Amino acid sequence: MPPATWRSDLSVPTRHSVWWVADALHGDGACWSEALAGLEGSCVAFIDSGVLAAWPGLAERLHAVVKQTAPHLTLCAVDTMPGGEPCKDGLHHAERVARACFDHGVSRRGCVIAIGGGAVLDAAGFGASMAHRGVPLVRVPTTTLAQDDSAMGVKSGVNAFNQKNALGAFGAAHAVICCERLLTTLPLEHWLGGFSEAVKIALLKDPDMLAQLERTAPAIRARDMHAAQPMIRRSAELHREHILRGGDPFEQGSARPLDHGHWAAHRLEAMSAWQVPHGQAVAIGIALDACIATEMGMLEPAIRERILHLLHALGLPTNHSLLQPVDRLLAGLEQFRQHLGGRLAIPLITRPGSFQETHQMPANAVTAAVSVLARHAV
Ligand SMILES: NC(=O)c1ccc[n+]([C@@H]2O[C@H](COP(=O)([O-])OP(=O)(O)OC[C@H]3O[C@@H](n4cnc5c(N)ncnc54)[C@H](O)[C@@H]3O)[C@@H](O)[C@H]2O)c1
Ligand SMILES: [Zn+2]
Repeated sequence: MPPATWRSDLSVPTRHSVWWVADALHGDGACWSEALAGLEGSCVAFIDSGVLAAWPGLAERLHAVVKQTAPHLTLCAVDTMPGGEPCKDGLHHAERVARACFDHGVSRRGCVIAIGGGAVLDAAGFGASMAHRGVPLVRVPTTTLAQDDSAMGVKSGVNAFNQKNALGAFGAAHAVICCERLLTTLPLEHWLGGFSEAVKIALLKDPDMLAQLERTAPAIRARDMHAAQPMIRRSAELHREHILRGGDPFEQGSARPLDHGHWAAHRLEAMSAWQVPHGQAVAIGIALDACIATEMGMLEPAIRERILHLLHALGLPTNHSLLQPVDRLLAGLEQFRQHLGGRLAIPLITRPGSFQETHQMPANAVTAAVSVLARHAV
């Protein structure tokens, strides 16, 4: 036989559906019947332990809601998953989800329902993606960060080898249900943390949103839902648009604007043994990148001041003792370069709504930026 090359493009149509409701478990049932339509057989659910502590009757409510809205589905088990980063510590909890699919006969026509913060959605999502090579996932994000960023994404994963999201998968959720009421029990630190991703996306893409965040920061900090909701939803919309229309949903290229501020954030999370929450780490990462951009002559000092001021107004940190000495932090640049597949590409803000990728980050600019942050700390 002569040698041969067979080459074709393959595209798989994928739907990305998101519902925004006031109260998903007590009243807004229509979202469930729409979200679960087309699924059948068995399903299982995993609820964040923090959410369950705040909403003790949630498992029973979920049983009732699935029964009422999706007669073609049987919710076989509702299990708990430790909230926050502990559920992403290695494969253990993701594997529990995959095992539950086999124990309860959940097929690729059924689903895993995950209710919780970004960490639980990541671990449960990865478990679902491993079972039968992909059981549909229904995400119910319960933090500001999960609603305004992570639940819109097409990624899941867990931490391993002392590195953030070292193991994971790409794939869109079958449905995302964002419920306003569930946010009311979120601890303040995590309520505030989600707005760092809103600041990030506003800096990258939307100067009007940035101005609105500046105007409403005190109200957001005071947990005024009327001020917060439009910002959560706008952030989610911009993240979603970027993923769906940006041309690279599975991050095969090296251009990753949504990773603005994240090289340092991920490093700081790991250096702190996951004690610094993702949202707070991103706030520090955004502040650091703004200072680096100014050191490199890419961003006016006045805009840097505006960014630091907004983060402070939102009750977010811009400094951490682990940033110094900078050697350990700088190792994060090398990890980020490897993660990107060879060439470093860091998106730096040049003015509100605009950014530029830099392929080099001089150590002296990082050192100077860390000193600026230490002086600005509140
Ligand atoms: N997959 C992605 O695209 C993506 C994007 C961004 C972030 N993430 C990941 O998301 C994680 C951070 O998620 P997060 O900021 O949502 O926080 P989290 O999941 O770490 O949760 C924070 C804490 O809040 C508790 N909690 C959650 N919702 C609650 C509620 N409604 N009431 C009471 N307590 C509640 C949890 O139990 C936990 O203790 C990180 O692991 C990050 O890497 C993933
Ligand atoms: Zn993030």
